[in-house]
Amino acid sequence: MSGIRKTIAVLPGDGIGPEVTRAALELLEDCAAAFGHHFELRGLPFGGAAIDHAGSPLPAETLAGCRSADAILLGAIGGPRWDALPLAKRPESGLLGLRKELGLYINLRPIRPRPALHGISPLRPERVSGCDFEIVRELAGDIYFGEHELRGENGNGRARDVAVYSTAEIERIARYAFGRAAARQHRLASVDKANVLATSVLWRQTVTSVARDFPGVALEHLYVDNAAMQIMLRPKQFDVMLTSNLFGDILSDEAAAIAGSIGLIPSMSRGAAGTPALYEPIHGSAPSLAGKDVACPLGAIYSACLMLRESFGLENEAQVLESAADRVLERGYRTMDIAEQGSRVLRCSEFTNHIRGEVRDALMHSERYGWGV
Ligand code: IPM
Ligand code: MG
Repeated sequence: MSGIRKTIAVLPGDGIGPEVTRAALELLEDCAAAFGHHFELRGLPFGGAAIDHAGSPLPAETLAGCRSADAILLGAIGGPRWDALPLAKRPESGLLGLRKELGLYINLRPIRPRPALHGISPLRPERVSGCDFEIVRELAGDIYFGEHELRGENGNGRARDVAVYSTAEIERIARYAFGRAAARQHRLASVDKANVLATSVLWRQTVTSVARDFPGVALEHLYVDNAAMQIMLRPKQFDVMLTSNLFGDILSDEAAAIAGSIGLIPSMSRGAAGTPALYEPIHGSAPSLAGKDVACPLGAIYSACLMLRESFGLENEAQVLESAADRVLERGYRTMDIAEQGSRVLRCSEFTNHIRGEVRDALMHSERYGWGV
């Protein structure tokens, strides 16, 4: 058995971040032990916790630790404690700074409602069952990284946020999205607001011209308002959805809701090949749940699985963890925030222990499952 060695920068962050990150790390360590891998975990301060500890949401030590790692696992950031700070000093600016510094321009958010959780989707089961699509969100440009200006106060304010995109920025994310679609169901839906915004006109032109290099992928363009409606009406029509930074932020929360909870959705953010990618659940720090050991760890656990698969090429290991989580859900176990009538509600740590037990069981019977470990 020849295992791999990898260094993972761990940024637990704020609120429920540390609790859900711990759950993901326990499973990563179980997986490493079972498959003979070695993951060196390096904890680093980030977000509000780093503001309190080092005066900045992204201390130099954290940035350096992320740069030198093979991958980064992040919990969540933010909270009421830091809400009164000016935008540039808030925990969120640490996340934006990390994205910028590491050149993370690709953000991947898979939407795969779990069959055992169809009951907590706001959509009827027949509308969510079989739904499986990916949102590819551009992460390094748009209104997020243009100029921001806020002047005046007391009823006489003025504010400005500038959205900027270049052809090159649109092209590189479009190529990535076409590549994902080519490896899946060959359908790409590109989202814009080309009836109003100049950046969207450039977006549509550029995506259309990249399409010529991917003749096997069917491209359609949707206005963002229609895309929001279609996600709700017929989510199964989508295979890969390509969006700008702001539209992807909004649509991915909507898509998470149809999966049953924002607590269930993982994400990968990455830049050029050979640089470390960052994995994080798309949920926030959920201050009202923090420190109570009640939050759902699945978004963080699925993020760890995405890391195994996308950064380390460990598809088998990712599947072992994901199917263990599925079996725990199928037995009716839930954390409070994803519970329904009749669920067996557990704390976050207990729920994680059940998944660990399933992993152990599966590995003990690995021959039966054909995993050959
Ligand atoms: C996300 C979050 C971030 C974003 C915030 C925390 C800056 O909402 O990752 O979706 O807007 O990108
Ligand atoms: Mg968001």
